[in-house]
Amino acid sequence: MPLVAPSDLRRQLEGGTLLLLLDVRPPEQRRLARLPNDRAIPLSVLGMALGSLPHDRPIVTYDHFGAQARRAARFLQDRGFPLAAALEGGIDEYSRVADPEVARYPEDDPADHLFFRQLPRLDTGCLAYFLGDPVAREGVIVDPGRDIAPYRALLSEGGWHLSAVVETHTHADHLAGHAALHALTDAPIYLSRRSRASYPHRAFSEGEAIRFGGEEAVVLETPGHTPDHVTLHVRDKVLTGDTLLLGSCGRTDLGEGSPEQLYASLTEKILALPAETEVYPAHFGAHHALPERHVSTIGFERVRNEALTQGSLDAFVKYMTDGWPPKPKDFDRIVSTNLSE
Ligand SMILES: [Fe+2]
Repeated sequence: MPLVAPSDLRRQLEGGTLLLLLDVRPPEQRRLARLPNDRAIPLSVLGMALGSLPHDRPIVTYDHFGAQARRAARFLQDRGFPLAAALEGGIDEYSRVADPEVARYPEDDPADHLFFRQLPRLDTGCLAYFLGDPVAREGVIVDPGRDIAPYRALLSEGGWHLSAVVETHTHADHLAGHAALHALTDAPIYLSRRSRASYPHRAFSEGEAIRFGGEEAVVLETPGHTPDHVTLHVRDKVLTGDTLLLGSCGRTDLGEGSPEQLYASLTEKILALPAETEVYPAHFGAHHALPERHVSTIGFERVRNEALTQGSLDAFVKYMTDGWPPKPKDFDRIVSTNLSE
């Protein structure tokens, strides 16, 4: 694969060589840095733009670090553009060694980061989550509470587009906020395929992903606390809802829960995750007889969590049936409201 060294490209540009500089990155990266007098055709749509490209002069593809540009140049060579080549090291190398006037990506590249916010409610001990792609400005809200004012403020202050509202399960302890958020933003509501909800929603199942910008939340079905419970896996984080709480797990005696199913979800799905995976639950604090902490790791919970250290299914079932506090008042009314609107 022909590569063009940054210094050679600079010489050619200064020498007036007639070449086409082709930016093959996703469009949102152009505002971070770009080469002058180029054309932008993202790699994903390059095949549709072949008719507009010259066969008789060099085409130099470029991206951030060089990998996508090499794929693009190879793609072009295979389709009758023998003078296609890739900028070695990408725009990053070019601005460093050949032309410091060309803007660099910010040192702290937002494309490397996930925007992640826990949104605790002190009055109820509930935790909602906002996750966003900071470049595309697209995000999802998980387990929103009924009062959507904090989410509305977060979305408008950050200029975020809401791609999805997700409920990890049918809540029995608080009224959910998906309906109000959907009314505000038109974002679709995602629920487990096992949900009995009667309002319009999109159903997902094991292994499916909810995308927001370049990020995705992958669904793990973790029934037990409720039949429709899912856990969301995003990068090195899991949003465990009430399947795994800090030091404990969600009860199985509200509605259609099952200690046996919860045991399988915890041992086969949750404990299968790498030890360093960060655990983000749906509840915290005294309101739920839980720690005030908001985050843990799989490795820590594996050795310290009561639910994960019972040692056998029989012991776990006994743990789930003995000694829990009285059921929350009105839980069946809350469930039916959360399923119908
Ligand atoms: Fe719950």
